[in-house]
Amino acid sequence: MKNYKEALDHKIFNVISLAAEELDVDSYVIGGFVRDHLLQRGDPKDIDVVAVGSGIELAKKVSEILPHKPIVQVFKNYGTAMLRAFDMEIEFVGARKESYREDSRNPIVENGTLEDDQNRRDFTINALALSLNKNNFGELLDPFNGLEDLKSQIIRTPLDPDVTYSDDPLRMLRAIRFAAQLGFRIEKESLKAIRENKDRIKIISRERIVDELNKILLSEKPSVGFALLHKTKLLKLILPELTALEGIDEIEGQRHKDNFWHTLEVVDNISENTDDLWLRWAALLHDIGKAPTKKFHKKIGWTFHGHEFVGAKMVFKLFKRLRMPLNEKMKFVQKMVLMSSRPIAIVDDNTTDSAVRRLVFDAGDNIEDLMTLCEADITTKNPKRYNQYHNNFKIVRQKIKEVEERDHVRNFQPPVSGEEIMETFDLKPCREVGIIKDAIKEAILEGEIPNEYDAAHDYMLKRGKKLGLQPVKQ
Ligand code: CTP
Repeated sequence: MKNYKEALDHKIFNVISLAAEELDVDSYVIGGFVRDHLLQRGDPKDIDVVAVGSGIELAKKVSEILPHKPIVQVFKNYGTAMLRAFDMEIEFVGARKESYREDSRNPIVENGTLEDDQNRRDFTINALALSLNKNNFGELLDPFNGLEDLKSQIIRTPLDPDVTYSDDPLRMLRAIRFAAQLGFRIEKESLKAIRENKDRIKIISRERIVDELNKILLSEKPSVGFALLHKTKLLKLILPELTALEGIDEIEGQRHKDNFWHTLEVVDNISENTDDLWLRWAALLHDIGKAPTKKFHKKIGWTFHGHEFVGAKMVFKLFKRLRMPLNEKMKFVQKMVLMSSRPIAIVDDNTTDSAVRRLVFDAGDNIEDLMTLCEADITTKNPKRYNQYHNNFKIVRQKIKEVEERDHVRNFQPPVSGEEIMETFDLKPCREVGIIKDAIKEAILEGEIPNEYDAAHDYMLKRGKKLGLQPVKQ
């Protein structure tokens, strides 16, 4: 039997071992901690412990022994307990046998042996356990050859995959997420079972689905996960807006690109330049307005007029449906989708400075993210065009820099405030104040006046006069 004592050199494992001995139960570390140790993947933050007996009692005992006596959080319904120590979350569970009902992922639970417990786990690579018992401390218990699967990089279920996925359909997404995160292959029978059980995803809460989607999006090459979601037909159930982009239409010899596969390339591209989850979401959704706006015109071919606007509206609906945050993160994604074609429009040599000023003003602090998205959007396989498009954006970046240095319009507040307008003309809050304020902003963005106080003040007086207002103060 293989021994991995070195994985357990942290003192917490001695404490758990001692506590288990005092209670006269066997205990094991299982799941992600063991898997990630064997894969040499970073610092563990979570430890899962199985007790062949009561997990809750073991957690309480561990807390008693630890000098800082951490609080034990008990989840009675699940028969689990959790405590925090040494910056880690340690979860305790009693070894169990489980059976599931058709309509729920909440199991009927009975006490069981370690092997029963390993059986009910999702994947062989997650069923690996290390003993915390004195007589074989550090020994690997691996009844399903999880170690082999780790080496050959395979995601496989301990039981018949049909049973494992049907019992807990969240595992379908976990399989795909692990494949994406670890670069593993999902074994054939598993993939087939996922396809066959796909409809059971409906019993999974949207929050959990989004958790897994986020992890896929944050993996090194998210297209791996999304291609698997697509292949198993889960994607259509979760994000139908995306699958609607698939396919190439041809009329009178005119074709458009396949916007689904293009989108996945854009997500991979952007992931090379940012770890920001929401910018990655923006890349994923930047073209969703193209399906409902697609049209063919005899003279100009395929168009997607207004897809950015339609897409931004769809972002809200999608976030709402998936119970994602409807806060500034969602607004950011909407803004990116809405503005995704703006920088291209100023590639032209004859672009006026005012167009650049408007872009910088509208994008505000998100201008850099917007440019990152536009650059990721270049997926042409023609090297000449690829270079040309990237060069164009270099020019746009240069223009933005120049305008910014000169005019400071990013997030600018007009140099004359509404209050000052009211004082100057002795007005109460009214329509005219808004008209004058807007006119000043427009004049600055159009370059009619510089972004400075004196010029804006003069402009205010002129504009007020036009409205028939008399200044009571100059
Ligand atoms: N598990 C399972 N089925 C699930 C979720 C979890 O069988 N739907 C088991 C697996 O053995 C897993 C362990 O519970 O290893 C712990 O789950 P969790 O902490 O969610 O995941 P980890 O495997 O630790 O991986 P990560 O932290 O990357 O999510």
